[in-house]
Amino acid sequence: MNDSSLRQRLEELREEIRAHNYRYYVLNEPTISDEAYDSLMAELRSLEAAHPEWITPDSPTQRVGAPPSEKFPKVRHPAPILSLANAFGEAELRAWFDRICKLDSRAARASFVVEPKIDGLTVVLHYRNGIFVQGATRGDGEVGEDITANLRTVRAIPLRIPLHAAKRNQEERADAVPPAYLVVRGEVFLSKKDFEALNRHRIENGEKPYQNPRNTAAGSLRQLNPQVTASRPLRILVYQIVAHEGGEIPTTQWGTLAYLRSLGFPVSEDVRRFERFEEVVRYAVGWREVRETLPYEADGLVIKIDDLALAADLGVTGKDPRGAMAFKYPAQEVTTRLHEIRVNVGRTGALTPYAVLEPVNIGGVMVERATLHNFDFIAEKDIREGDVVRVKRAGEVIPYVIGPVIEARSGAERPYKPPTRCPSCGQPVERAAGEVAWYCVNAACPAQLVRNVEHFVSRGAMDIEGLGEKIVAQLIEAKLIEDAADLYFLTKDSLLSLEGFAEKKAENLLRAIEESKTRPLHRLITALGIRGVGEAVAADLARVYGSLEALRAASFESLQEVEGIGPNVARSIVDWFAQPRNQALLEKLTLAGVRGESPDSSETSDAPLAGKTFVLTGTLEGFTRQEAKAFIQAHGGKVAGSVSKKTNYLVAGENPGSKLAKARALGVEIINEARLRALAREESSS
Ligand code: IVH
Repeated sequence: MNDSSLRQRLEELREEIRAHNYRYYVLNEPTISDEAYDSLMAELRSLEAAHPEWITPDSPTQRVGAPPSEKFPKVRHPAPILSLANAFGEAELRAWFDRICKLDSRAARASFVVEPKIDGLTVVLHYRNGIFVQGATRGDGEVGEDITANLRTVRAIPLRIPLHAAKRNQEERADAVPPAYLVVRGEVFLSKKDFEALNRHRIENGEKPYQNPRNTAAGSLRQLNPQVTASRPLRILVYQIVAHEGGEIPTTQWGTLAYLRSLGFPVSEDVRRFERFEEVVRYAVGWREVRETLPYEADGLVIKIDDLALAADLGVTGKDPRGAMAFKYPAQEVTTRLHEIRVNVGRTGALTPYAVLEPVNIGGVMVERATLHNFDFIAEKDIREGDVVRVKRAGEVIPYVIGPVIEARSGAERPYKPPTRCPSCGQPVERAAGEVAWYCVNAACPAQLVRNVEHFVSRGAMDIEGLGEKIVAQLIEAKLIEDAADLYFLTKDSLLSLEGFAEKKAENLLRAIEESKTRPLHRLITALGIRGVGEAVAADLARVYGSLEALRAASFESLQEVEGIGPNVARSIVDWFAQPRNQALLEKLTLAGVRGESPDSSETSDAPLAGKTFVLTGTLEGFTRQEAKAFIQAHGGKVAGSVSKKTNYLVAGENPGSKLAKARALGVEIINEARLRALAREESSS
């Protein structure tokens, strides 16, 4: 055969194999035997071996590549990969609907799509001109890990879209054309059957069986060696378009699922669309039996407003979109003995009681502690030490005590009296007017300090390695620190005075503390431990205010203009900065050189636009101002309001303003929209 007919045969083989992959992994309807499939693959391999120059990354032979040398690089998602709020049971589901109807009257007449909530691992898949170019984990929702090599081994993930060959065999499928750039989100998981088979195999080989399908799927994807991933029968179902450039995409969730299916992606068949919310409720409540029949584990349903524009308009709270809800069944309940009631002193000084239980299995998890909410609750339910109590656990939520089993009492149970003094510092406790919680108001209370410092050094905050609870307590005990900022003034000598500290350990700790000085602003804001300011809110604040000084100066009113911040959180932020103790902390931090590096610089240095500042002027064609800003930020760049010497690019659209002249005068590079997109693309694929 001459080259051109060999080449043709090679393309035929690829098309045919892709079609078989699709039938096998996506449709679950194989049409040839394993042997016949293997022989097609063998023929393709030998052709490619003879002509390595013809190998393309989307060839079916190219699923397993070389392992990466070290950890997975970070990838910034083109749009936030949001999470979901939970509704346990019918009442909470209805409450959600009422809430969104109040926010937007259109919700009352909305249609809904209901999908199984697959218990797997979220992945984000990028396609350029139909070719699979990158895949990432969810990470913190903003930045994930690049696990492309591993995802390539998942047979159900198309390496190219659309699958022309598959389409020929599926006449009803529309002739879908993928956008030039398409990012989809899905869930990678193991089927119940495959999981059991995998475990049987492991047991036969004398290996320890895996715990559950979810962890196994997650572990398989985070393997450094793609060979290992390839050996696990991972599956995927996709359900969302995260971003796209060019082309038109559906405006409804139902349309999105159909569209993704038509491109050859595996999409759940167990999805339903309802015209009315009442039908959603009926379906969700009765779904329990369906769940048992699914070939994979689902920890509930996801209920989504079908109209994507309406869903987007409803916005997000924290990391949860208001337009969707995870529905889960109220958890199982068990009874066990409550041995003792103990009190925890929180970061804010709040005292919270918890129960020490006789260990008990609830839905596969051993539980030894359960929250008792607050002291009023204990009194109301008359919960006594030694009681047999009912305990409940729902989803990932911390287990809680429902109440005592009165009939089981022997008379030996001891009624409980709340502490009048802080169990940590011994100071009298106080109750703020109108609040249920009791507080230890001693600002120097060691327990509070420990919690505060623990929070400050935790992973989502300043991430100082080697500073566990024990060492923090030691430092406070020895009066080496009085707040978190004092960490930056520790010396080797002072550390060596502590029990268990030798040269090496002291040096390591000091290095970790030093390294934390360059953490980005949003981490520093998280670290402050302001009530109501978690990682998501901190990230928004960092983006909007850009520096700690600006945030400190922000007014109650201006704070509320930030998307997702209401009066309570705004008040809590203003109050925090007004406290002398906190002001002293901030001053010490400044003195130590900790100011919160400009947003995200340390984490997105590998993003294509990292370190570049853009200014926008004029009307852009394919972007609104807001979208252009989000696009630049999503690729790691910064957007400033006015042109200065620090500006790297001015993005000029139709009818540019005076910024254009200023940019020219300062010699700032002026680019158009196409060039902006190219910049974002260029370096990200290199
Ligand atoms: S939608 C804005 N749909 O559940 C979109 N999530 O607890 C939010 N999940 O992080 C997610 N199946 O990993 C959606 N059909 C489905 C899902 C699903 C599983 C996971 C997903 C998410 C988690 C939220």
